[in-house]
Amino acid sequence: MGAKTKNTRLLSWVNEITALCKPESVHWCDGSQSEYDRLCQQMVEGQTFTRLNPEKRPGCFLARSHPSDVARVEDRTFICAPTAEEAGPNNNWADPVQMRATLHKGFDGCMQGRTLYVIPFSMGPLGSPIAQIGIQITDSPYVVVNMRIMTRMGSNVLDVLGENDFFVPCIHSVGAPLSAGQKDISWPCNPNIPQKYIVHFTDDRSIWSIGSGYGGNALLGKKCLALRIASIMARDEGWLAEHMLILGLESPTGEKTYVAAAFPSACGKTNLAMVIPPTVLKGWKAWTVGDDIAWIKQGPNGELRAINPESGFFGVAPGTSMLSNPNALLTVRANSIFTNVVLTDDQDVWWEGLDGPPPAHGIDWTGKDWSPSSGAPGAHPNSRFTAPAAQCPSIDPAWEDPAGVPISAFIFGGRLSKTFPLVYQSYDWVHGVYMGATMGSEATAAAIGQAAIRRDPMAMLPFCGYNMADYWSHWLTIGRKLGSKAPPIFRVNWFRKDENGKFIWPGYGENMRVLKWIVDRVRGVASAIEGPFGYMPRYEDINLEGLDLSWQTFDHLTACDKGEALAECKELESHFAQFGHRLPQEIQEQHRQFFDRVNAISGDAWHMPS
Ligand code: OXD
Ligand code: MN
Repeated sequence: MGAKTKNTRLLSWVNEITALCKPESVHWCDGSQSEYDRLCQQMVEGQTFTRLNPEKRPGCFLARSHPSDVARVEDRTFICAPTAEEAGPNNNWADPVQMRATLHKGFDGCMQGRTLYVIPFSMGPLGSPIAQIGIQITDSPYVVVNMRIMTRMGSNVLDVLGENDFFVPCIHSVGAPLSAGQKDISWPCNPNIPQKYIVHFTDDRSIWSIGSGYGGNALLGKKCLALRIASIMARDEGWLAEHMLILGLESPTGEKTYVAAAFPSACGKTNLAMVIPPTVLKGWKAWTVGDDIAWIKQGPNGELRAINPESGFFGVAPGTSMLSNPNALLTVRANSIFTNVVLTDDQDVWWEGLDGPPPAHGIDWTGKDWSPSSGAPGAHPNSRFTAPAAQCPSIDPAWEDPAGVPISAFIFGGRLSKTFPLVYQSYDWVHGVYMGATMGSEATAAAIGQAAIRRDPMAMLPFCGYNMADYWSHWLTIGRKLGSKAPPIFRVNWFRKDENGKFIWPGYGENMRVLKWIVDRVRGVASAIEGPFGYMPRYEDINLEGLDLSWQTFDHLTACDKGEALAECKELESHFAQFGHRLPQEIQEQHRQFFDRVNAISGDAWHMPS
């Protein structure tokens, strides 16, 4: 299909990229169901897709990637800012002039024998004042159909763009040109990792990705646009582009409180975004607005309002079960794409951690026969589902409101087995920014057999498009602008372990008890006491009815060991030292205050008064 636009900047940019990539044909995507169906069928014929059992998974497909192409490649991801210091120690920097030359060579002729698809897409509800338009060029039909689920995509985006000359240009190629007569393979990509590039230019906001067809490397609206490029735009324009889920919590009297929460990868973010409150919290409901990214701007009354820029979920499959996330399982029952999971003999899908016994036989993510005794997981640990958000049973009625939903609290979390309490609230905005700046998750360093904290400030380490210290300054500026409208900030830790290495807190739906305390704090109806980390709930402040959780266990979840906290202070000093003179003075001051509070603990540990 030809171009349905008169936008001169867009037309000349598509012509320029077409001349460089030299595809066999060009197709402007209209975003229709028939286009989607046709591309899916074409991929079934080319063996990229397997159609799943229409009785069990109507409208669903399975794809298997190349074994070299299974996840985001952070060490091949670059920020091309004018100087390395602007990109910061949190990014791989590359000189923009040199990188442009490298990419020009890499993209020259890279689409030979393939179709170049032009995908107009909107991140956020079409026409929302918080939304942004991107145009992705790709030679991957797999990317086109995934983008149709993950974004609002098609001709109507061109209508909204009109003659406007600002859109985010995104250029993607699998980097596998076909010579005349060469037969394609089911997952074309460049298997040579050093030849994969995911590049962001800060001057023209363009994104260039070559060599990979997987997830965030290839669906450029997600991590590349909605986080890395958007974080730069947000800095320049005074808003926030965050790696956060958005959740609406409804009280029995129907009052809604929306929270935005940041967690590093592998902390159950999608599970929390779709949490189902336990029945003892009678009348409480939780509603999903988004599971990964939040764009947040000040509304007309000075309050913060957030949209989910995406329209689908690109969730990790393994571990998703009726215990961990029933709403996700219900979401993927139809019209979804599964990548790198097990194909069962009845043409359904399976992954490790799914309820019930594993199938006796299946085809694993590498395409080989598999059985539970094979010794290796059948689904790749980073296997995914791509599913329409509208199918989620807990989707919030306001999830597509162009004005966004009002945000009343921020939550930061991580996976930490010791030292950090179940939940605490910051003393003020600046202290909350410090809490976000110091967050992290434990990654087991296999070589030394110890748990080390990988610092992941605001869960933005792989996604902040500029110097992380400047990003903290930006959060401080936003706080000053918000004044009394600044939402309270909390930190949570579901993952503290006892001396036998067992999780102390039951997690999953029970996390709603902690969220309820947060809502009650927002509404000014819950009390708390001051601890070294922040304001904390006492045993009687959290509804623990029906849980077998004694006062002693609660003490275990909330105590602050002085030695461990002092070690944390020391570790943070090297974390902050990386940022040199750019580290905001307010963050240094918060660090000094935290150290003083820990130092003032008398005895070995601080305990909640009984
Ligand atoms: C994701 C991630 O896939 O954060 O969402 O890695
Ligand atoms: Mn994410």
